[in-house]
Amino acid sequence: MTSRDEMHPGRVSHREGRTGMLLPESPEVGIRGPIMKEAGRVFYNPSMSGSRTRSVLLFRHSIEAGLLGKGTIYALDGLTASGLRARRWLNELPGEMAQRISATIVDLDGESLEWALKSHERYPPNHSKGKLGHSQSDLRVEVLSSGRHWIDIDPYGSPVPFIDTALQSMARNGVMEVSATDTAALTGSSKTALMRRYGARVLTDSLSHDSGMRVLLATLSRVAARHDRSIVPLLSVWDSHHLRVSFRVIKGVSAANNLEESIGWRVFSPSKEEVVASMDAGMYPKSSLDFLPMHCMLPLNFPLDMKDQRVSGPLWIGSIGDDEAMSSMTEERALESCGPVFSPDDPLGWDEKRFEMERKSVVRSVRNFSKESGVIASRHLIVVDDLAAWLGTGAPPSPRKIVQVLKDAGNSAEVSSYGRPSFRTDSSWEDVVEAAMATHPPM
Ligand SMILES: C[S@@+](CC[C@H](N)C(=O)[O-])C[C@H]1O[C@@H](n2cnc3c(N)ncnc32)[C@H](O)[C@@H]1O
Repeated sequence: MTSRDEMHPGRVSHREGRTGMLLPESPEVGIRGPIMKEAGRVFYNPSMSGSRTRSVLLFRHSIEAGLLGKGTIYALDGLTASGLRARRWLNELPGEMAQRISATIVDLDGESLEWALKSHERYPPNHSKGKLGHSQSDLRVEVLSSGRHWIDIDPYGSPVPFIDTALQSMARNGVMEVSATDTAALTGSSKTALMRRYGARVLTDSLSHDSGMRVLLATLSRVAARHDRSIVPLLSVWDSHHLRVSFRVIKGVSAANNLEESIGWRVFSPSKEEVVASMDAGMYPKSSLDFLPMHCMLPLNFPLDMKDQRVSGPLWIGSIGDDEAMSSMTEERALESCGPVFSPDDPLGWDEKRFEMERKSVVRSVRNFSKESGVIASRHLIVVDDLAAWLGTGAPPSPRKIVQVLKDAGNSAEVSSYGRPSFRTDSSWEDVVEAAMATHPPM
């Protein structure tokens, strides 16, 4: 997806979404895992393109929904590297929205910032609206210099070192997006790092990435509460090697005081007593106790044995996304905002096929989000492989088919965007069992 830059030999032009950029060398397209910056290179990981596309769409939704007020929007692309995330906001949001944004890109690495600014000069926003400032500094220092409505934190590894100062510097109403690539810790494989950084434990099972996102949200909400703020999740995504949560930050002591209502435990293979407690706390749909579910959530004050291996948490037990924000993430809208449009005199020399590939990549980045929006508040995330093993039905049912059976029976259910074949539903456990029995492929 790159071409040599004719005007600047030795540089490579690349496009992500609708936005052009310059790099000192071709990006290593196809990498799925984390990559680290090497000396003389600008960090750019094409496998994070979906995260940047969703960032543009979430920014658009947040402006339209009035989450960012009416005046100038002070936005910080906190660990910017190539500068592409902020440059995509400015280029891919409609002009009337971009012109409200005063974005600052921050990085410790001067060379990365130079490339970001060269890119911005070579490929300025189409409508030339919005401001792009830059600061070569430590994010933890820069962030405290003034209040912000939007902060993006996308570190190598854990975001923990950055979240305290960033949350302090949020305006009364704002949005923060936080990535974490320390997935081994958050998903429970590195137990000591998980306890040290996040004060939590996670059972390493097929829900461990969902539990990891919830542990991250719980950590963020506790730090926010210390600064008289509360958080409201908008979107939580497990995408290849990283977890990413996007949430509103709202100033106010009373919501911050209610923190404990949103934090609790997830228990694998719960006992009858635990399922009843979960139902009583409104965390589980009323069901008969003839079949016990694979997991349930419990409030923070439920007495649990802290050595019990079945327990994950403390974690966020509220919704991990917002219905309206997620339903705005349709394929049509993604293409309208971020899909590049073929032009025969394309400055990067792309042919129609390359444009089509990038458009497909834009569409992939929002797959299932909009459909899943209606059930995102449901605490039942069911991985079909686990369900088949739990019920002893052999091959796993297709998530699509089981969702259809549940919907036909009047339940809410949708295929999930989670990284394993799964669905979310608010159905009772007996309805889930019945639907699984009705749809399981013959053994
Ligand atoms: C994972 S990369 C960011 C990727 C980028 N957000 C993107 O979408 O491509 C992390 C960046 O953080 C920078 N960095 C690391 N520690 C920093 C700090 N304390 N303050 C500012 N920048 C920092 C690194 O130089 C690197 O460019």
